Amino acid sequence: MADIYNREDEKAQPPTLFPAYASTVRRAPAQALIRIPQTITETSGPADCWEDLMGGAMADMTKQHAGEALGQRIIVTGRVLDENAKPVPNTVIEIWQANAAGRYVHARDDWPAPLDPNFTGVGRVISDAQGRYRYVTVRPGAYPWGNHHNAWRPAHIHLSLLGPAFATRLVTQMYFPDDPLIDLDPIANAVPMPYRDRMVSRFDISVTEPNFALGYLFDIVLRGRHATPMEP
Ligand SMILES: [Fe+2]
Repeated sequence: MADIYNREDEKAQPPTLFPAYASTVRRAPAQALIRIPQTITETSGPADCWEDLMGGAMADMTKQHAGEALGQRIIVTGRVLDENAKPVPNTVIEIWQANAAGRYVHARDDWPAPLDPNFTGVGRVISDAQGRYRYVTVRPGAYPWGNHHNAWRPAHIHLSLLGPAFATRLVTQMYFPDDPLIDLDPIANAVPMPYRDRMVSRFDISVTEPNFALGYLFDIVLRGRHATPMEP
């Protein structure tokens, strides 16, 4: 079967090998890639049953526990779009992030920042008929990592998108405007400018809700000339 979910090869996408991002040196393929034909399992399913498989939306990550999550409450919204700026409905967006102090709920995250008993950092939303999605969370903190001396990840939210089939899965990270750490971050900088800016959300006062939360806009373009950079 011919591949029906081809990705475009363009400069906007990060390379598999980016030496400044140290773990790519060991993980990037050293030999030419072998193309594995997509099978019917990957291209046809499991359409229209993500909610059955994963459960319904988890659109408010600040209210998953008895108390309110700590930190700056934010609303993130935008559209999932195809290469012709046409809305893409029924896309499952899985969300994971550190808490406001920059700490993940994860066994391997043990740097001395506090966990928040009222914040797990995991959410899930599905784009509507207009391709729109929206979720409420807290702004994640920056966190240190071992890539190089004094390395800190800029504040970011991880996103995984799933369309009608497993072969459509795309993974990216959303950053925040005016974060000085973006310029220093080898993961963000694996994508050259101006493409890197496509991973940076935009503050929007009309998304912001009075006395509740700051609002950020982030459209996700799946492919084409305006494609959002996705992790290889
Ligand atoms: Fe992260």
